[in-house]
Amino acid sequence: MRKIKKAIIPAAGLGTRFLPATKAMPKEMLPILDKPTIQYIVEEAARAGIEDIIIVTGKHKRAIEDHFDNQKELEMILQEKGKTDLLEKVKYSTELANIFYVRQKEQKGLGHAIYSARQFIGDEPFAVLLGDDIVESEKPAIKQLMDAYEETGKSVIGVQEVDEANTHRYGIIDPLEKKDRKYEVNQFVEKPKQGTAPSNLAIMGRYVLTADIFDYLATQGEGAGGEIQLTDAIERLNRADQVYAYDFEGDRYDVGEKLGFVKTTIEYALKDEKIRDELAEFIQNLDLDTPRS
Ligand code: UTP
Repeated sequence: MRKIKKAIIPAAGLGTRFLPATKAMPKEMLPILDKPTIQYIVEEAARAGIEDIIIVTGKHKRAIEDHFDNQKELEMILQEKGKTDLLEKVKYSTELANIFYVRQKEQKGLGHAIYSARQFIGDEPFAVLLGDDIVESEKPAIKQLMDAYEETGKSVIGVQEVDEANTHRYGIIDPLEKKDRKYEVNQFVEKPKQGTAPSNLAIMGRYVLTADIFDYLATQGEGAGGEIQLTDAIERLNRADQVYAYDFEGDRYDVGEKLGFVKTTIEYALKDEKIRDELAEFIQNLDLDTPRS
């Protein structure tokens, strides 16, 4: 079986939930504390042993490219000022993996973004990581899926439970048999209407896919929201061949929408010993009874 060495990180979406911040900058560059969300995702892939990453970009290509590129002038300034801590952090972001870029010319949906990277992938199995969720776990979430792929040779889709009230926001699986953390799947449904979801197991932005998916994406029509949905192509692949879902372990931080983003920022700030105590005091002293607007 072929080892997974490549990953796609799609970052070409319009990020409408964060407008106007995302007017001139991809949402994947919004920082949680001092790191853009996409760096957490690249770090997860690198920890899993991924060597080559292709980032699918849209109109705002430069900020991402510059972030993972060398900044010699900045490095020299930090060196001269003796700011070795910061220098290490700046250098670290350039050394995580080999990063390549492809442009998705029109924002036609996640399935279309993945299809844009097909030439880079060729006929190898590959990983996909979305920046909407940061996952903290001892074994990287994507590595858990890679290991499940190595057992089966089939595509493996990462899932976790969500509140039933939120199932309409996600791709949802109709699970069959579960063995360890791995499910056989009857059906994959993108954003089911409220009250119709077949389970509360939601696709969580981590995938290992065989290159067969490109045949389905090539002919995939528009689905939910008028977009070419990756979930719909996975469902067709599942009908032709087995696709597994894997309930991965890890604490998930939803950074794809405003409330989740703020909660994640607070959680990470509370983990930072330099600011934790003052922030905790600030939160404890908040007067929540006084209206703010
Ligand atoms: P989302 O639907 O969460 O991202 O797509 P979005 O469209 O940017 O955000 P909103 O809903 O307007 O706020 C999931 C992932 O797929 C990428 C996004 O960048 C995100 O990482 N994506 C989505 C693309 O790369 N291209 C697309 O056409 C759509």
